Amino acid sequence: MMKDFSKLLEPFRIGKVKTRNRIIKTASGTSLWSTGERRVTEKGKAFYESLAKGGVGLIMVESPIVEYPFDEPGDVRMRIDDDRYIDQVAEIAEVIHRQGCPAFVQIYHRGPWLQPYAPKRPHIAASPVVPDYSEFDLHATTAPKELSVGEIGELTELFALIAGRIQRAGFDGMEINAGCDHLFASFLSRFWNKRTDEYGRASMENRSRFLVETIMAIKRRCGADFAISVLINAVEGGMGDEGMTYPESRSLAKILENSGVDALHVRSHWLGHHVGSYNHENLFYPEPCVPLKDFPKGLDWSRYGKEVNVPAAEIIKREVSIPIITVSGIVPERGERILRQGKADFIGMCRPLFADPALPNKLAEGRPDDVAPCTRCGTCQKMNGLPKECRVNGALGTERYEVTKAERQKRVVVIGGGPAGMEAARVAAMRGHRVTLFDKSTKLGGTLPVAAMVKGLDIENIPNLINYLARQIEKLDVEVEKQREFDVAWINRAAPDVAIIATGGVPTTPRVRGIEGKNVVKSADLHGRLKFFLRYLSPGTLRWLTKFWMPVGRSVVILGGQVAACQLAEFLVKRGRKVTIVEEGDGLGERLIPERKTRLFSWFRKKGVTTMSGVHFDEVTSSGIMVTTKEGKRLLLEAQTIIPSLPMQPDTGLAEVMKGRVPEVYLIGDCREPRLIPDAIADGWRVGNKI
Ligand SMILES: Cc1cc2nc3c(=O)[nH]c(=O)nc-3n(C[C@H](O)[C@H](O)[C@H](O)COP(=O)(O)O)c2cc1C
Ligand code: SF4
Repeated sequence: MMKDFSKLLEPFRIGKVKTRNRIIKTASGTSLWSTGERRVTEKGKAFYESLAKGGVGLIMVESPIVEYPFDEPGDVRMRIDDDRYIDQVAEIAEVIHRQGCPAFVQIYHRGPWLQPYAPKRPHIAASPVVPDYSEFDLHATTAPKELSVGEIGELTELFALIAGRIQRAGFDGMEINAGCDHLFASFLSRFWNKRTDEYGRASMENRSRFLVETIMAIKRRCGADFAISVLINAVEGGMGDEGMTYPESRSLAKILENSGVDALHVRSHWLGHHVGSYNHENLFYPEPCVPLKDFPKGLDWSRYGKEVNVPAAEIIKREVSIPIITVSGIVPERGERILRQGKADFIGMCRPLFADPALPNKLAEGRPDDVAPCTRCGTCQKMNGLPKECRVNGALGTERYEVTKAERQKRVVVIGGGPAGMEAARVAAMRGHRVTLFDKSTKLGGTLPVAAMVKGLDIENIPNLINYLARQIEKLDVEVEKQREFDVAWINRAAPDVAIIATGGVPTTPRVRGIEGKNVVKSADLHGRLKFFLRYLSPGTLRWLTKFWMPVGRSVVILGGQVAACQLAEFLVKRGRKVTIVEEGDGLGERLIPERKTRLFSWFRKKGVTTMSGVHFDEVTSSGIMVTTKEGKRLLLEAQTIIPSLPMQPDTGLAEVMKGRVPEVYLIGDCREPRLIPDAIADGWRVGNKI
């Protein structure tokens, strides 16, 4: 059925800036920059170019450094704190404009936020307020410095100066991030603002004075046509009675409209949950962080954080006539609906465009099924200055986003239909190669359906990824040989030019006495059984059935403490099992996304999960496992079931067989180096493009 995205694809405007459609790429730090004087990199340019090429209506480029040193791990951001950086920043505007796409730059000053992470950064706010400690945020335990009126004036001029540089770099406008608990928000919110002067808490007019003066200063310097969007918190949670309320944000919206602002980007904020306030699914991971009735009021929490801010956009839209941007977990179908219902004027998207920068073009071409779906896995949220990666888009963070036709068509065999193999087959076929994919199962996806079953479908949606890849492979005429063990005789017949081996890793069984005992459920057996059921049942149905029965006792010791082990523990705890995680190495959950790891381990503590690292496995007995702790103490960990869940081992056997028989042989995914889904996809993308 042809879906109608005519509203989403309709050109619109912000001030004098014409947007190509109503999809806006909202700002997001990418860490794709360099340190030193030359900050702008080919990777950064390629990322923004890919978005512009993909047809988005307007791009909000991420905030560059407004004051240096910015004191951020890795120090990887663009700089705009001096005129000498204008030419570099202009290169970003240029690559975007070349594709006919308008571009803004977002500016923010973090004010009171993030101080422990960046101790040298100016720690300033409206007032010296110290929020309560939250393990899910990064606030200092010391008070921020209260800005004097003179300092407010200096910062106002600084922002106008920065705006001038952004304009000289060729951008069409800018966005002021006055949301989260950044500097401007600290003035707007009664929680932060305890002042009694003309910038003080007495009225919204006073609290917005700094922001309004900044807007006026920017308009004075850059002219009325230089568009300004302001990102606001329409409601704030976690601040008792002191957070922003709708009556206040409505009055703020009116003030901003009257001060010449051209658009409002309407979000919300929950103090103590920084990432959870914009990637809201985290608030539900692994279970809602507080009972749902205690989530901030006035937002839509019915879809695990998807579309959460839409009610806020709708309320603010009624108040003003400038365009309203809404954002958060909005997929195209829902975005079209939101626009048609008149709840917003623009749909902001961030991660859906990480996953597929060509999303708008694909909608315009009537190919919504070809859009690679964001699975909300959180991989792009890893911090510490590491460049962004996407679990779905192997190109993200590289210098190349386009798949180009190969000079010569090759005969390619891909062995293994997991994420690495499917992605390699997809890309190779797009390049014009003739591809055959072998998979010994009845369904493609490798271990993905098992992962989907273990992780559930509320937060992440792995089946969407499987379906997308399977659909693409079919459309691209990849010949799929399911339920077929690969045999070398086929090589002799088909004489492929390239063999891509993606057969997965080999489960690791710890060498410990008693591991063959009846109380041990080996991961290979567990996977085998699950895969059998997944032939007939969807991951969601099987997951539901496991609530009633599983071949696992009431108490479980998991041997291994990395990603799969932690996720298995979560799954078992949710099914009433008493779980102990024991890891021989020093770290636990090392490659979990930081935000999710914090939440998972906090939940483990609440649920009484025992976690131990640096442990030696001594012997499995009929009543559990004997271990020696890192302090040298011998302990019996009692359990009815022991489940080894150790990282897999590579499996290079088939590659050896292929060598000499096939001219080009590549190992990808877990059989090369067992890691996570994003690594498998990245491998598939890389090799698919290489051959
Ligand atoms: C890695 C990452 C970095 C982000 N950085 C910013 C930022 O600097 N400024 C901002 O306003 N929003 C930032 N966001 C929030 C996004 O712009 C967007 O509001 C959010 O991801 C929800 O939209 P989505 O579900 O379409 O991704 C960031 C999001 C991600 C995933
Ligand atoms: S990394 Fe995960 S959450 Fe981020 S865009 Fe890709 S699929 Fe979505």
